[in-house]
Amino acid sequence: MTSNPRNLTRHAGAVLRRDRERLLGQRGAVIWFTGLSGSGKSTIAHAVEQRLTAGGRLTYVLDGDSIRHGLCKDLGFTPADRSENIRRVGEVAALLVDAGVLVLTAFISPYGMDRQRVREIVGTDFVEVFVDAPLEVCEGRDPKGLYRRARAGEIAEFTGISAPYEPPEHPDLHLRTGSQALAECVTAVHDLIAARGLLRA
Ligand SMILES: Nc1ncnc2c1ncn2[C@@H]1O[C@H](COP(=O)(O)OP(=O)(O)O)[C@@H](O)[C@H]1O
Ligand SMILES: [Mg+2]
Repeated sequence: MTSNPRNLTRHAGAVLRRDRERLLGQRGAVIWFTGLSGSGKSTIAHAVEQRLTAGGRLTYVLDGDSIRHGLCKDLGFTPADRSENIRRVGEVAALLVDAGVLVLTAFISPYGMDRQRVREIVGTDFVEVFVDAPLEVCEGRDPKGLYRRARAGEIAEFTGISAPYEPPEHPDLHLRTGSQALAECVTAVHDLIAARGLLRA
């Protein structure tokens, strides 16, 4: 048994993350939105992306639905599959951070352990945003009709109804979308990104 049974060696590139960040005039980082379905993760992430792009920043949104159409289309919603979904997203996000991109992710990511693991994969430039709205509010919005279908028993293991959601204990930002307007939420996220020094290399 060798110490490197799969014969893998990382190739050290001459161009480093900090070179790319200098080129872009920003820092690579992950802004991780977590919350119930319908809490507003996608809406806020895309609105923040629009604002950052208008300000000349390179961003990329990783959104649950699109990722599940491609990278994670083999996965379902069992606890193990949800964990693997988030693990893969964490690895992709880490690559984009290395590319110097401001990554905005919109996944329910119901398990605290999975979010913690992403934090470990990504490192210090991980900002957790709790997109918080009461279940009744999310269910009342029901933008994709999923709550109605879950209540009708057509969707198993639906977060908030038949599967758990573990709220972040110490999020970097706590948004309450039941009482805060979208514009206010977007500004709060943008201000935090700026305050963390992510908008300069
Ligand atoms: N303050 C707010 N922030 C984000 N979305 C809001 C807010 N208030 C109302 N909404 C509405 O709530 C819904 C959230 O849906 P979506 O962003 O798809 O949620 P998620 O991605 O978390 O499942 C949208 O219809 C949006 O217009
Ligand atoms: Mg969404």
